[in-house]
Amino acid sequence: KKLYGTGPPGSGKGTQSPIVKDEYCLCHLATGDMLRAAVAAKTPLGVKAKEAMDKGELVSDDLVVGIIDEALKKPSCQKGFILDGFPRTVVQAQKLDEMLEKKGVKVDKVLNFAIDDAILEERITGRWMHPSSGRTYHNKFAPPKVPGVDDVTGEPLIQRKDDTAAVLKSRLEAFHRQTEPVIDYYSKKGIVANLHAEKPPKEVTTEVQKALSSIV
Ligand code: AP5
Ligand code: ZN
Ligand code: ZN
Repeated sequence: KKLYGTGPPGSGKGTQSPIVKDEYCLCHLATGDMLRAAVAAKTPLGVKAKEAMDKGELVSDDLVVGIIDEALKKPSCQKGFILDGFPRTVVQAQKLDEMLEKKGVKVDKVLNFAIDDAILEERITGRWMHPSSGRTYHNKFAPPKVPGVDDVTGEPLIQRKDDTAAVLKSRLEAFHRQTEPVIDYYSKKGIVANLHAEKPPKEVTTEVQKALSSIV
């Protein structure tokens, strides 16, 4: 299966993608996670991406298209993949189509994590994450067993630099202006599943599974 998960910041893409990944043995490609790793490692890519990310703006199409192009060559991604947060502009969507066309495949399903903006600030400002695995917690909705500590490794959790109410405003603006047109782009192809992303995590998982059962 070739899947694409989209939705505003905090809508649950990163929470649901690993579940889908394990169930269907797909690779999970999250451009945000890959960019944050590059920033932390201070690679040339990370240096270029940092400023836009800190401001809650999108990094350039060329940078992220390059990352995805590389990642899709991995052997583990040949059977299927879930793209989390890419494509985020219509240009990225067109480039993705070109890349996939060369491989003779296409996106089978778009999971649209539809949710009201008003709910997102609480989700974003309460989020804690384990940087090396990408595991995500929430101080109210999904607390770790010990506050500030990853359940699996015992390592410390961090808060994302862009997870403030002020930066969230720019991220939402970028979503509505640049990413919603991508959802229209795929709606025309008839492959978008609209999820009720405001529901509790388990119910969202059930909706995801239902959406995916139609493409088995
Ligand atoms: P990215 O990392 O993709 O951030 P985002 O799109 O803002 O999305 P988030 O990761 O914040 O939200 P999520 O939907 O994954 O939410 P989560 O599941 O964690 O991108 C970051 C930046 O990188 C961008 O701003 C941009 O600069 C750059 N970038 C990335 N991709 C790019 C691209 N393609 N082009 C250009 N630039 C790009 O959930 C959030 C919280 O809520 C968690 O604490 C979770 O525990 C909790 N939660 C989840 N689900 C529920 C639920 N159902 N009920 C209650 N709580 C829940
Ligand atoms: Zn995410
Ligand atoms: Zn909108």
